[in-house]
Amino acid sequence: MERREHWSSRIGFILAAAGSAVGLGNIWKFPYITGENGGGAFVVVYLLAIIFVGLPVMLAEIVVGRKTQRNPVGAYMSLHRGQFWKLAGYMGVLAGFLILSFYSVVGGWTLGYIFKSVATGFSFASTIKDSSSEFSNFTASPYYSILCHAVFMFLAIAIVYKGIRKGIERWSKILMPTIFVIILVLVFKGLSLKGSMEGVRYYLSPDFSKLSSRSVLIALGHAFFSLSLGMGAMITYGSYLSKNENLFKSSLMVVIIDTVIALLAGLAIFPAVFAMGFPPDAGPGLVFNILPAVFAKMTFGSFWGLLFFSLVAIAALTSAVSLLEVVTAYFVDELKMKRTLAVVIFGTFIFLLGIPSALSFGVWKHVSIAGKSFFDFVDNLASNYFLPLGGFFISVFIGWVWGVKPAVDEIRHGSANFADVHLIALLAGLKDDPSHNSDIHVVTLASLWGIFLRFISPVAVFIAFLFTIGAIRL
Ligand code: TRP
Repeated sequence: MERREHWSSRIGFILAAAGSAVGLGNIWKFPYITGENGGGAFVVVYLLAIIFVGLPVMLAEIVVGRKTQRNPVGAYMSLHRGQFWKLAGYMGVLAGFLILSFYSVVGGWTLGYIFKSVATGFSFASTIKDSSSEFSNFTASPYYSILCHAVFMFLAIAIVYKGIRKGIERWSKILMPTIFVIILVLVFKGLSLKGSMEGVRYYLSPDFSKLSSRSVLIALGHAFFSLSLGMGAMITYGSYLSKNENLFKSSLMVVIIDTVIALLAGLAIFPAVFAMGFPPDAGPGLVFNILPAVFAKMTFGSFWGLLFFSLVAIAALTSAVSLLEVVTAYFVDELKMKRTLAVVIFGTFIFLLGIPSALSFGVWKHVSIAGKSFFDFVDNLASNYFLPLGGFFISVFIGWVWGVKPAVDEIRHGSANFADVHLIALLAGLKDDPSHNSDIHVVTLASLWGIFLRFISPVAVFIAFLFTIGAIRL
């Protein structure tokens, strides 16, 4: 078997993991759910969800990955002999197949819109009605939607094909800073427009009357999705870490990057929408229906549109890469396939699996499974069932089955002097003294994490799960 590759640097890992996390969830979904759920008030709840559930589970997945140096299936198997837990790993790999199949369809649309911005300068979008019908026609066309989906999958395959260092890490180091630069440019552009402050107010001024218990569960579910948790993507990326990395700091960085990009995305979108006099409450239609009309009205709109849709496409691509890597790692580790072969075969398979999703906005609109279009069915199954259940299993597994103690021992490789713990010590008013052996503080941080992982995360994730599938109504 080939030797397991490792990230060449800590920053390489952080950028790759952040690349997985930063995706359509940040740029397309976070802004509109924030706008709908009370702006700044929702942001506060979202941050709490990130801190109490997102960060602990993120750390948990990364620890399991580094400890076992395996894909999700192999990871569960090497820590526990029970057949049941292996199933949780399989569910993760299956989720990789399913999510990527429709994620790539949407990723394809963003490529299509990059092309449109250059080719037409959004001349089709003089009104929202025109812009929306253009979008419907585009997604309904089997030719364009499959072609764009194919190009998008091809890009993801090409990156994963090259392996961890030369593929994923290298491209993350190029693409993540690019995302950051583009989003900053767009934020400045948006804020410089006349009337943009209304947009900032809409997006961020707290309105507690719009914040319901429903919003809390939405925040929780989204925190989870946005951080790519629940299917072993972070197990897989963690499995390419070497023993001398500080896992707590790295997880914290990934979580911070993901959250900052999500917040900035809203600042890139709403000020411009308001400045151009368009309604902000189009929900999922914000990006593909409203924004083209916004760009059509702007000077050099085709340039700004090009930047914006490139941003979305890049964010989607780095997430797609991590989905494909989960699938690939499984076949490489467990079935001893060659990476290059596994990537091509299963990448192609995922492309084929995505075709019915691509068609479900056009010729297969009326084909339904369990009352949903193919796209919605796959999305719902993976995002609303597999991911939350996977997250529930991973928290329970580490909190109660494998044990917090061995997990903490694993974290201590690479963070022997526990800078992270000094942070807690500082917060607790204790003086930071790196020279003394801080075992007591270690217990403090570890037990805090243990409590989150054993009690708070599984319960919170499970309740959010019941809510998303409609078993609890609020
Ligand atoms: N985090 C990605 C986003 O915000 C979507 C996502 C969810 C994901 N689960 C994942 C990506 C697992 C990669 C792996 O769009």
